[in-house]
Amino acid sequence: MNTKMTKPNIVVLTGAGISAESGIKTFRDNDGLWENHRIEEVATPEAFHANPDLVYRFYNARRTQLQQASVKPNAGHKALSKLEAHIGKNLLLVTQNVDDLHERGGSQNVVHMHGELKSARCGDSGKRFEWLDDFDGTTACPCCGRNTLRPDIVWFGEMPMHMDSIYDALAMADIFISIGTSGNVYPAAGFVQVAKEAGAFTIEANLAFGATNALFDESRQGLATEVVPKLVDDLIAQFN
Ligand code: APR
Repeated sequence: MNTKMTKPNIVVLTGAGISAESGIKTFRDNDGLWENHRIEEVATPEAFHANPDLVYRFYNARRTQLQQASVKPNAGHKALSKLEAHIGKNLLLVTQNVDDLHERGGSQNVVHMHGELKSARCGDSGKRFEWLDDFDGTTACPCCGRNTLRPDIVWFGEMPMHMDSIYDALAMADIFISIGTSGNVYPAAGFVQVAKEAGAFTIEANLAFGATNALFDESRQGLATEVVPKLVDDLIAQFN
């Protein structure tokens, strides 16, 4: 990409790869197991129905891990907040990650399409509450007082969040950047196609290129902590 632009509209999609070097395991890089579980054991409504204790325990452990001192935003997260500092609201950061490392890295305009670890959701009303501690099937819900709380995670078969604002941003995008996602899970894996149809220039940054790599105009391979800061510097150099 070599045309100079003034504050382009940019949509960035991130996946587990951007948080890998912060100590959070990816989903598909460990013999198909996610923290020793098959994804279907812990990330479907059916699994929650069949074995709620296991699913509560699993996400409680993930929430505890996220709050360990060793888990911190890395240079990839920080570079994206630097990009936002340059272009402001023209950047929408869409993450599939349920961690809060983008926010802790300084990003503000972030949407979590697959939910968030540090919140709980009422299974009846859908209301979401910031939640830093463990909870389970005996915890009273703040909105109804009953035991309706579930992890605020979008499981397989459920509708991702914020889709209207994501598709609005994709329709306006000049640049679409995918970082650290294997491109296996839709609708996120389809965003590159939507952005291309809207005329965006598309860039993939990844350790191992994902399933949709052929759709990208530019590909950069490497660790997120190395590739993302360089990409951000190259982009900023192109803006007036
Ligand atoms: N730097 C950059 N990329 C990396 C790094 C790293 N240090 N380490 C791993 N990766 C890349 C891998 O090459 C892979 O392409 O990160 C990607 C991780 O892929 P997945 O584990 O499939 O994670 P993701 O694409 O985010 O999964 C999507 O699937 O299970 C669901 O809801 C869950 O949001 C998740 C969704």
